[in-house]
Amino acid sequence: MGGSVSEQSSQKVEERYDLWRLVTFLPNKEVPVHRWFYYKEGFSRELVWNLLTEFGIEGGVVLDPFVGSGTTTLTCMERGIESIGIDTSPLAVLVSYAKTRVYDPVRLETYFESLIRRSPIKVSEEGLRPITMRVFKKPTLLEILAMREHVSEIPEFDYRSFFTLALMRAAMRCSYVYKDGSSIRIVKRHVPPFRPTFRRVVREMVSDVKSIKLLSGPATIIKGDARSMERIEGQTIDAIITSPPYLNKIEYTRVYEVEEDLFLHDTKRESMRSYIGTVPKSLKSLPLDVDGLPDSAIAYLSDMEEVLREMYRVLVSEGTAAIVVAGAVYNQIVVETDVLIAEIAQRIGFEVKKILAVNRRAVTSSRVKKIGEARESIVYLMKP
Ligand SMILES: C[S@@+](CC[C@H](N)C(=O)[O-])C[C@H]1O[C@@H](n2cnc3c(N)ncnc32)[C@H](O)[C@@H]1O
Repeated sequence: MGGSVSEQSSQKVEERYDLWRLVTFLPNKEVPVHRWFYYKEGFSRELVWNLLTEFGIEGGVVLDPFVGSGTTTLTCMERGIESIGIDTSPLAVLVSYAKTRVYDPVRLETYFESLIRRSPIKVSEEGLRPITMRVFKKPTLLEILAMREHVSEIPEFDYRSFFTLALMRAAMRCSYVYKDGSSIRIVKRHVPPFRPTFRRVVREMVSDVKSIKLLSGPATIIKGDARSMERIEGQTIDAIITSPPYLNKIEYTRVYEVEEDLFLHDTKRESMRSYIGTVPKSLKSLPLDVDGLPDSAIAYLSDMEEVLREMYRVLVSEGTAAIVVAGAVYNQIVVETDVLIAEIAQRIGFEVKKILAVNRRAVTSSRVKKIGEARESIVYLMKP
């Protein structure tokens, strides 16, 4: 019964399951600025902090080609290190951009005062998706749309991004959205009124801006595709700390449907096309001699090959990379993504320093029956 793809590999896997929390977003929930957006698929500031120390990075440039909510870039700013983040998702770009600016708290307060003093305006819900209309009480939705209008008139892009993120957080707190793993549920419950909620969120965020110690910044955030990082010149990056989307886990992007509809307009479809692992197998081939891989794993791994080639190109000689990846289970076959990615990296020319297994997740079918265990690991690479 079952089996695993990659058994014939020579890669050794060290086990450090005590570190599991570091590859989750959980520790960030307590940390100023990092906590501005709960990105379920994110990793922790502590992980990035420890890796920077382990790699001995004190200057130079660090890249995260799957920057998500900006954990790598923000942590680099706390350490005084220049950093670049790339992501294909407009939501991730907004969040990571807003979190990695260097704000003047007085200016934030001034903008906020003028936002809440604006007189009411007439807005319409026309063009919104049905789900968005269903998750708010109508007067709340109208207040959110009016505030969105006021925020869009803030002349400075960085400050506009800050208030867009604040408004998005406040709006979601006043909604009936319940994020249930990979989908949205509508849970009719008591929701707080919008204006005091927005005020509270902005106050918390301004207080975080005052308390975080940034030694450098702002970070460079690029909306782009990790498979072709043409905006980054060869041999200019000293280290990469990243975590690609997990194999077989694309559906979680649906949980952000309301945020995207309200605050990111209709950019989603285009960005999903460049989401790794989504192109059908017929267009792809895999640089490994393994049998039994499901089509979607082939699509994913061949995309990851392109990403690894780009990482190799942009890294300086002796540059290091730490990639957090997770395995998956298909029809009772465990795909050991860490080992397969290490194999591909080796063929490209990387030295595989180690594979550290840090987490084990039980994989279940229909939420009940356990069908296998997928390992989550950090793959350490060096460009010789
Ligand atoms: C696991 S998350 C990264 C989370 C991040 N480490 C953090 O702490 O927030 C993976 C990210 O990869 C992005 N992504 C997917 N395909 C991409 C591509 N082709 N190029 C760049 N980013 C991509 C997704 O939008 C997602 O934000």
